[in-house]
Amino acid sequence: MMGAGPLLPLKLSLVILFLFSVAASVQCFEKKVLNLQNLQWKQKNGISNFLPQKSRREKGATMLEIKHRHYSGKTIDWNKKLQKSLILDDIHVRSLQSRIKNMVYGTVKDISSQTPLTSGARLQTLNYIVAVSLGGQQMTMIVDTGSDLTWVQCQPCTSCYNQQDPLYTPSISPSFQAVLCNSSTCQSVQSATGTSGLCGSNSPSCNYIVSYGDGSYTRGDLGSEELNLGTTTVKSFIFGCGRNNKGLFGGASGLMGLGRSPLSLVSQTSAIFDGVFSYCLPSTGAGDSGSLVLGANPFLYKNTTPITYTRMLPNLQVPTFYFLNLTGVSVGGVPLQAESFGKGGILIDSGTVISRLPPSIYKALQTEFVKQFSGFPSAPAFSILDTCYNLTAYQEVNIPTITMYFEGNAEIDVDVLGMFYFVKSDASQMCLALASLSSKDDMGIIGNYQQRNQRVIYDTKESKLGFASETCNFNEA
Ligand SMILES: *[C@@H]1O[C@H](CO)[C@@H](O)[C@H](O)[C@H]1NC(C)=O
Ligand SMILES: *[C@@H]1O[C@H](CO)[C@@H](O)[C@H](O)[C@H]1NC(C)=O
Ligand SMILES: *[C@@H]1O[C@H](CO)[C@@H](O)[C@H](O)[C@H]1NC(C)=O
Repeated sequence: MMGAGPLLPLKLSLVILFLFSVAASVQCFEKKVLNLQNLQWKQKNGISNFLPQKSRREKGATMLEIKHRHYSGKTIDWNKKLQKSLILDDIHVRSLQSRIKNMVYGTVKDISSQTPLTSGARLQTLNYIVAVSLGGQQMTMIVDTGSDLTWVQCQPCTSCYNQQDPLYTPSISPSFQAVLCNSSTCQSVQSATGTSGLCGSNSPSCNYIVSYGDGSYTRGDLGSEELNLGTTTVKSFIFGCGRNNKGLFGGASGLMGLGRSPLSLVSQTSAIFDGVFSYCLPSTGAGDSGSLVLGANPFLYKNTTPITYTRMLPNLQVPTFYFLNLTGVSVGGVPLQAESFGKGGILIDSGTVISRLPPSIYKALQTEFVKQFSGFPSAPAFSILDTCYNLTAYQEVNIPTITMYFEGNAEIDVDVLGMFYFVKSDASQMCLALASLSSKDDMGIIGNYQQRNQRVIYDTKESKLGFASETCNFNEA
């Protein structure tokens, strides 16, 4: 009688406390809804084409429509296509890692002996294109933040792959001028391509070679030409007239180099655009479009969260790339612990599909994700992706949110369409769209899958990068 009085409420409150904490641990993880039905439908109908692309100009900035690359009009075996692009992504990242190691340690190893020689791995994972005009001729270019020289296939051509638009023909352009091999511009080719410009055997023009490290390359001579980006004209733009090009560049006329060194489009247009550009990369569905904005104009962005900035880490040995300081990751709101946070740099790249994380970070992330995304039937691993599920029985699932944090409190709140990769288009094999580096000495990479539906702002003058959530859509609201 004496003891029961105070003991009962204590027991009760312990039970309530227990129930409460069970409820809290079940419900407190932050999740996002992924509608699988919509996604499958979109994937099946994802055949887009090189439709005319749009552009507009507002308050000193120029906005180009950015689209996912077309796939030929034939019926696509989506399973094959999805699987092949993962394998290519792996080849591309391996060649990128050895390219970086060559630059940093100066080991002059033949890259082709280390990676399988599949032409154009990089250029197949670079999936985003814009339309521009060069000397009045229409071109489509693949957007690449991981290289500097802008080039197009050029007439007369020794070896050109198939492309959608007619080849660029310098002889019919009054504004074309060859760059001479004794000029300082020709010398700047070294920092942009890793190989110095050379004099041609029978002409004074500046010959260049860019090797992407995976068997694809472009060779030709430098020219200067009027480049029209939407409604903005860039006079005397230095570009590569590619006479011998190898790689499956998917029908595009060439490549737009948005890297960091002096020959890149960003550097060459810095008087017009102040060294600032940004993009919003759309997902793969038909009709999805995003934008490439050259110059700073926040009114052109449609971000739904405030822009947060982080500094670009300087890296003199690898001048082309953009490096950031990844300081944390959280899964479903739970911050992860890993020794690699804040150490070294992580590269942000538009031409890598799946982000590669240092092993300690990936392990922590994968463990926490599996814990929170429990109860779903698992499926076999595929290629670089090891955490897979069979979700055919579900119409929609709640996925734990993933947030990446960078020095200075910047963050990428990964979009729900950037979390799972469909290995099979029927959702019977869907994998967490993140992978581990094979060694902690390799360079971490933020790939384009996790950059979907984000406004990513590159400010090379202020050496900072900004992120905000945005549902990519070129058209005016
Ligand atoms: C480069 O060579 C051309 C002739 O091919 C000559 O006219 C020009 O003066 C030279 N320029 C320099 C900077 O040496
Ligand atoms: C990254 O940021 C953290 C936190 O601000 C800092 O301690 C660390 O030194 C930075 N790392 C690099 C490589 O700058
Ligand atoms: C996926 O799960 C469904 C049931 O939900 C099952 O019928 C199907 O065989 C599974 N597919 C694979 C490839 O395991």
